[in-house]
Amino acid sequence: METINDYLFKYKNYIFSIGFASPEILDSLQSFEIRESDVFLATYPKSGTIWTQQIIISICESAGDLFEYQNNHEKMPWLEHRENREDYPVRPSPRLFTTHLRPAFMPPGVKDKKAKIIYVTRNPKDAVVSAFHFSQICDRLETPKSFEHYLENYLEGNVSGSSWFDHIRRWHSVGDQYNILFLSYEDMIGDLKTAVTKICTFLGKNLSEEDVEKVVEKSTFKNMKEDPKANYKNSLKKGDFMRKGQISDWKNYFTVAQSERVDRLLQERIGDLSLKFVWE
Ligand code: A3P
Repeated sequence: METINDYLFKYKNYIFSIGFASPEILDSLQSFEIRESDVFLATYPKSGTIWTQQIIISICESAGDLFEYQNNHEKMPWLEHRENREDYPVRPSPRLFTTHLRPAFMPPGVKDKKAKIIYVTRNPKDAVVSAFHFSQICDRLETPKSFEHYLENYLEGNVSGSSWFDHIRRWHSVGDQYNILFLSYEDMIGDLKTAVTKICTFLGKNLSEEDVEKVVEKSTFKNMKEDPKANYKNSLKKGDFMRKGQISDWKNYFTVAQSERVDRLLQERIGDLSLKFVWE
Protein backbone atom coordinates (compact mmCIF):
# COMPACT_ATOMS: atom_id res chain seq x y z
CA MET A 1 0.00 0.00 0.00
CA GLU A 2 1.28 3.45 -0.90
CA THR A 3 -0.06 6.59 0.76
CA ILE A 4 -0.38 9.29 -1.89
CA ASN A 5 -1.46 12.20 0.29
CA ASP A 6 -3.78 12.91 3.25
CA TYR A 7 -6.76 11.72 1.21
CA LEU A 8 -5.68 8.92 -1.10
CA PHE A 9 -3.83 5.62 -1.04
CA LYS A 10 -2.85 3.26 -3.82
CA TYR A 11 -3.20 -0.50 -3.60
CA LYS A 12 -2.57 -2.93 -6.44
CA ASN A 13 -2.32 0.00 -8.82
CA TYR A 14 -5.74 1.44 -7.93
CA ILE A 15 -6.41 4.62 -5.96
CA PHE A 16 -8.81 4.68 -2.99
CA SER A 17 -9.97 7.32 -0.54
CA ILE A 18 -8.35 6.85 2.84
CA GLY A 19 -10.98 5.67 5.30
CA PHE A 20 -13.20 4.07 2.67
CA ALA A 21 -11.55 0.73 1.86
CA SER A 22 -8.45 -1.02 3.21
CA PRO A 23 -5.93 -3.50 1.76
CA GLU A 24 -7.12 -6.18 4.22
CA ILE A 25 -10.71 -5.86 3.00
CA LEU A 26 -9.64 -5.83 -0.63
CA ASP A 27 -7.61 -9.00 -0.09
CA SER A 28 -10.47 -10.65 1.79
CA LEU A 29 -12.71 -10.25 -1.27
CA GLN A 30 -10.64 -12.94 -2.98
CA SER A 31 -12.26 -15.49 -0.69
CA PHE A 32 -15.69 -13.83 -0.50
CA GLU A 33 -18.33 -16.44 -1.32
CA ILE A 34 -20.71 -15.56 -4.10
CA ARG A 35 -24.33 -16.66 -4.33
CA GLU A 36 -26.15 -17.01 -7.63
CA SER A 37 -28.70 -14.48 -6.43
CA ASP A 38 -26.09 -11.77 -5.68
CA VAL A 39 -26.41 -8.53 -7.62
CA PHE A 40 -23.51 -6.09 -7.99
CA LEU A 41 -23.68 -2.55 -9.28
CA ALA A 42 -20.26 -1.41 -10.52
CA THR A 43 -19.44 2.14 -11.55
CA TYR A 44 -16.64 4.62 -11.87
CA PRO A 45 -17.38 7.39 -9.31
CA LYS A 46 -20.02 9.97 -10.24
CA SER A 47 -21.57 7.91 -13.01
CA GLY A 48 -25.05 7.59 -11.54
CA THR A 49 -24.35 5.06 -8.79
CA ILE A 50 -26.93 6.16 -6.24
CA TRP A 51 -29.49 6.57 -9.01
CA THR A 52 -29.01 2.99 -10.19
CA GLN A 53 -29.06 1.77 -6.58
CA GLN A 54 -32.48 3.35 -6.17
CA ILE A 55 -33.72 1.66 -9.36
CA ILE A 56 -32.38 -1.79 -8.43
CA ILE A 57 -33.68 -1.63 -4.86
CA SER A 58 -37.10 -0.36 -5.96
CA ILE A 59 -37.38 -3.16 -8.53
CA CYS A 60 -36.45 -5.82 -5.97
CA GLU A 61 -38.85 -4.41 -3.39
CA SER A 62 -41.67 -4.26 -5.94
CA ALA A 63 -40.98 -7.90 -6.75
CA GLY A 64 -41.40 -8.79 -3.07
CA ASP A 65 -37.80 -8.90 -1.82
CA LEU A 66 -37.48 -7.59 1.72
CA PHE A 67 -34.52 -5.71 3.16
CA GLU A 68 -34.12 -5.20 6.88
CA TYR A 69 -32.54 -1.82 6.48
CA GLN A 70 -33.87 1.72 6.12
CA ASN A 71 -31.49 3.41 3.72
CA ASN A 72 -30.22 2.49 0.29
CA HIS A 73 -26.59 2.56 1.39
CA GLU A 74 -27.44 -0.14 3.93
CA LYS A 75 -29.69 -2.15 1.61
CA MET A 76 -27.06 -2.13 -1.13
CA PRO A 77 -23.76 -1.50 0.67
CA TRP A 78 -20.32 -0.95 -0.85
CA LEU A 79 -18.49 -4.22 -1.26
CA GLU A 80 -15.17 -2.57 -0.38
CA HIS A 81 -16.41 -0.29 2.41
CA ARG A 82 -14.69 -0.65 5.80
CA GLU A 83 -17.77 -0.10 7.91
CA ASN A 84 -20.70 -2.34 8.84
CA ARG A 85 -19.67 -5.30 6.75
CA GLU A 86 -19.97 -7.96 9.44
CA ASP A 87 -23.27 -9.26 8.15
CA TYR A 88 -22.32 -9.46 4.44
CA PRO A 89 -21.76 -13.25 4.57
CA VAL A 90 -25.05 -13.92 6.34
CA ARG A 91 -27.42 -11.41 4.71
CA PRO A 92 -30.60 -12.97 3.35
CA SER A 93 -30.75 -13.33 -0.44
CA PRO A 94 -30.84 -11.50 -2.69
CA ARG A 95 -27.76 -9.64 -1.52
CA LEU A 96 -27.23 -6.35 -3.32
CA PHE A 97 -23.79 -4.75 -3.41
CA THR A 98 -22.35 -1.58 -4.88
CA THR A 99 -18.73 -1.12 -5.89
CA HIS A 100 -16.30 1.25 -7.56
CA LEU A 101 -13.71 -1.51 -7.84
CA ARG A 102 -12.02 -2.75 -10.97
CA PRO A 103 -12.80 -6.35 -11.99
CA ALA A 104 -9.49 -7.70 -10.65
CA PHE A 105 -10.61 -6.93 -7.09
CA MET A 106 -13.96 -8.68 -7.47
CA PRO A 107 -14.63 -11.99 -5.70
CA PRO A 108 -13.44 -14.69 -8.14
CA GLY A 109 -16.84 -16.43 -7.96
CA VAL A 110 -18.39 -13.77 -10.23
CA LYS A 111 -16.34 -15.20 -13.11
CA ASP A 112 -18.51 -18.32 -13.12
CA LYS A 113 -21.31 -16.03 -14.29
CA LYS A 114 -23.09 -16.86 -11.07
CA ALA A 115 -23.85 -13.37 -9.83
CA LYS A 116 -25.37 -10.55 -11.86
CA ILE A 117 -23.45 -7.35 -12.46
CA ILE A 118 -24.78 -4.04 -13.75
CA TYR A 119 -22.09 -1.67 -14.98
CA VAL A 120 -23.07 1.96 -15.55
CA THR A 121 -20.90 4.42 -17.47
CA ARG A 122 -21.26 8.16 -17.84
CA ASN A 123 -19.60 10.34 -20.43
CA PRO A 124 -16.25 11.39 -18.93
CA LYS A 125 -16.75 15.13 -19.41
CA ASP A 126 -19.89 15.18 -17.26
CA ALA A 127 -18.37 12.65 -14.86
CA VAL A 128 -15.34 14.85 -14.21
CA VAL A 129 -17.49 17.94 -13.64
CA SER A 130 -19.62 15.98 -11.18
CA ALA A 131 -16.47 14.68 -9.44
CA PHE A 132 -15.00 18.20 -9.32
CA HIS A 133 -18.07 19.42 -7.44
CA PHE A 134 -18.23 16.38 -5.23
CA SER A 135 -14.59 16.92 -4.21
CA GLN A 136 -15.61 20.31 -2.86
CA ILE A 137 -18.28 18.91 -0.55
CA CYS A 138 -16.90 15.55 0.51
CA ASP A 139 -14.64 15.49 3.59
CA ARG A 140 -12.85 12.40 2.34
CA LEU A 141 -11.60 14.21 -0.78
CA GLU A 142 -9.16 17.06 -1.28
CA THR A 143 -10.78 20.35 -2.31
CA PRO A 144 -9.55 21.05 -5.86
CA LYS A 145 -7.53 24.20 -6.55
CA SER A 146 -9.38 24.82 -9.82
CA PHE A 147 -11.27 22.88 -12.50
CA GLU A 148 -8.20 22.96 -14.72
CA HIS A 149 -6.04 21.43 -11.99
CA TYR A 150 -8.67 18.82 -11.16
CA LEU A 151 -9.09 17.84 -14.81
CA GLU A 152 -5.35 17.34 -15.10
CA ASN A 153 -5.32 14.95 -12.13
CA TYR A 154 -8.41 13.19 -13.43
CA LEU A 155 -6.98 12.57 -16.88
CA GLU A 156 -3.75 11.31 -15.29
CA GLY A 157 -5.79 8.95 -13.13
CA ASN A 158 -4.58 10.60 -9.89
CA VAL A 159 -8.00 10.61 -8.22
CA SER A 160 -10.07 8.18 -6.21
CA GLY A 161 -11.04 5.48 -8.72
CA SER A 162 -7.78 5.97 -10.70
CA SER A 163 -8.18 6.41 -14.44
CA TRP A 164 -11.67 6.67 -15.89
CA PHE A 165 -10.33 5.18 -19.15
CA ASP A 166 -8.85 2.14 -17.38
CA HIS A 167 -12.06 1.51 -15.47
CA ILE A 168 -14.12 1.51 -18.63
CA ARG A 169 -11.64 -0.63 -20.53
CA ARG A 170 -11.24 -3.22 -17.79
CA TRP A 171 -14.95 -3.66 -17.21
CA HIS A 172 -15.72 -3.84 -20.89
CA SER A 173 -13.05 -6.48 -21.39
CA VAL A 174 -14.67 -8.90 -18.92
CA GLY A 175 -18.03 -8.73 -20.66
CA ASP A 176 -17.76 -12.28 -21.93
CA GLN A 177 -16.62 -13.77 -18.59
CA TYR A 178 -19.19 -12.10 -16.36
CA ASN A 179 -22.96 -12.02 -16.39
CA ILE A 180 -23.09 -8.31 -16.96
CA LEU A 181 -25.51 -5.66 -18.19
CA PHE A 182 -23.92 -2.48 -19.54
CA LEU A 183 -25.95 0.70 -19.20
CA SER A 184 -25.17 4.38 -19.41
CA TYR A 185 -26.23 7.39 -17.40
CA GLU A 186 -27.26 8.98 -20.67
CA ASP A 187 -29.50 5.98 -21.54
CA MET A 188 -31.22 6.47 -18.21
CA ILE A 189 -31.68 10.21 -18.75
CA GLY A 190 -32.95 9.60 -22.30
CA ASP A 191 -35.53 6.96 -21.43
CA LEU A 192 -35.72 5.95 -17.79
CA LYS A 193 -38.60 3.54 -18.33
CA THR A 194 -36.69 1.55 -20.94
CA ALA A 195 -33.65 1.43 -18.64
CA VAL A 196 -35.81 0.22 -15.73
CA THR A 197 -37.37 -2.44 -17.97
CA LYS A 198 -33.91 -3.62 -19.10
CA ILE A 199 -32.80 -3.94 -15.48
CA CYS A 200 -36.00 -5.85 -14.59
CA THR A 201 -35.39 -8.31 -17.42
CA PHE A 202 -31.74 -8.74 -16.48
CA LEU A 203 -32.61 -9.37 -12.84
CA GLY A 204 -35.42 -11.74 -13.82
CA LYS A 205 -38.02 -9.62 -12.04
CA ASN A 206 -41.35 -9.67 -13.73
CA LEU A 207 -43.07 -6.40 -12.79
CA SER A 208 -46.42 -5.17 -14.00
CA GLU A 209 -46.54 -2.06 -16.18
CA GLU A 210 -47.90 -0.18 -13.18
CA ASP A 211 -45.03 -1.31 -10.92
CA VAL A 212 -42.47 -0.33 -13.55
CA GLU A 213 -44.06 3.14 -13.64
CA LYS A 214 -43.80 3.33 -9.84
CA VAL A 215 -40.09 2.44 -9.94
CA VAL A 216 -39.56 5.15 -12.57
CA GLU A 217 -41.41 7.66 -10.41
CA LYS A 218 -39.36 6.81 -7.30
CA SER A 219 -36.16 7.20 -9.30
CA THR A 220 -36.68 10.63 -10.84
CA PHE A 221 -34.16 13.29 -9.87
CA LYS A 222 -36.90 15.32 -8.19
CA ASN A 223 -38.20 12.46 -6.07
CA MET A 224 -34.77 11.20 -5.10
CA LYS A 225 -33.75 14.70 -4.04
CA GLU A 226 -36.57 14.61 -1.52
CA ASP A 227 -35.98 11.04 -0.38
CA PRO A 228 -33.39 10.86 2.43
CA LYS A 229 -33.33 7.05 2.22
CA ALA A 230 -32.05 7.31 -1.34
CA ASN A 231 -30.07 10.53 -1.64
CA TYR A 232 -27.23 10.07 0.90
CA LYS A 233 -27.79 13.59 2.14
CA ASN A 234 -27.08 12.48 5.70
CA SER A 235 -23.65 11.19 4.78
CA LEU A 236 -22.43 14.66 3.77
CA LYS A 237 -21.84 17.58 6.12
CA LYS A 238 -22.50 20.05 3.31
CA GLY A 239 -23.75 19.87 -0.26
CA ASP A 240 -25.73 17.23 -2.05
CA PHE A 241 -25.17 14.11 -4.15
CA MET A 242 -28.19 15.25 -6.13
CA ARG A 243 -26.58 18.26 -7.80
CA LYS A 244 -27.86 18.87 -11.35
CA GLY A 245 -28.59 15.43 -12.76
CA GLN A 246 -28.18 16.46 -16.40
CA ILE A 247 -26.20 15.73 -19.52
CA SER A 248 -23.85 18.45 -20.89
CA ASP A 249 -23.02 20.49 -17.78
CA TRP A 250 -19.42 19.95 -18.96
CA LYS A 251 -20.02 22.72 -21.51
CA ASN A 252 -20.07 25.19 -18.63
CA TYR A 253 -16.55 24.16 -17.53
CA PHE A 254 -14.50 22.88 -20.44
CA THR A 255 -12.53 25.04 -22.82
CA VAL A 256 -12.53 23.95 -26.46
CA ALA A 257 -8.94 22.75 -26.04
CA GLN A 258 -9.79 20.69 -22.96
CA SER A 259 -12.76 19.13 -24.72
CA GLU A 260 -10.66 18.23 -27.77
CA ARG A 261 -8.02 16.72 -25.52
CA VAL A 262 -10.60 14.40 -23.93
CA ASP A 263 -11.88 13.47 -27.40
CA ARG A 264 -8.34 12.54 -28.43
CA LEU A 265 -7.75 10.51 -25.27
CA LEU A 266 -11.02 8.68 -25.81
CA GLN A 267 -9.86 7.70 -29.25
CA GLU A 268 -6.38 6.69 -28.11
CA ARG A 269 -7.30 4.88 -24.91
CA ILE A 270 -10.62 3.20 -25.63
CA GLY A 271 -11.33 3.92 -29.30
CA ASP A 272 -11.20 0.19 -30.09
CA LEU A 273 -14.14 -0.51 -27.75
CA SER A 274 -16.44 1.37 -30.17
CA LEU A 275 -18.47 2.91 -27.38
CA LYS A 276 -20.83 5.72 -28.29
CA PHE A 277 -21.05 8.65 -25.90
CA VAL A 278 -23.89 11.12 -25.67
CA TRP A 279 -22.61 14.63 -24.95
CA GLU A 280 -25.80 16.67 -24.88
P1 A3P B 1 -24.25 15.71 -11.12
O1 A3P B 1 -23.17 16.05 -10.12
O2 A3P B 1 -23.81 15.93 -12.53
O3 A3P B 1 -25.54 16.37 -10.83
P2 A3P B 1 -22.87 8.96 -8.18
O4 A3P B 1 -24.11 8.46 -7.56
O5 A3P B 1 -22.16 7.93 -9.00
O6 A3P B 1 -21.99 9.60 -7.17
O7 A3P B 1 -23.29 10.06 -9.25
C1 A3P B 1 -23.81 11.30 -8.83
C2 A3P B 1 -24.38 11.99 -10.05
O8 A3P B 1 -25.62 11.34 -10.42
C3 A3P B 1 -24.74 13.44 -9.77
O9 A3P B 1 -24.52 14.13 -11.00
C4 A3P B 1 -26.22 13.33 -9.43
O10 A3P B 1 -26.92 14.54 -9.57
C5 A3P B 1 -26.65 12.29 -10.45
N1 A3P B 1 -27.94 11.67 -10.11
C6 A3P B 1 -28.28 11.05 -8.97
N2 A3P B 1 -29.57 10.66 -9.02
C7 A3P B 1 -30.06 11.04 -10.22
C8 A3P B 1 -31.33 10.95 -10.86
N3 A3P B 1 -32.38 10.39 -10.25
N4 A3P B 1 -31.46 11.46 -12.10
C9 A3P B 1 -30.40 12.04 -12.74
N5 A3P B 1 -29.18 12.17 -12.17
C10 A3P B 1 -29.00 11.67 -10.93
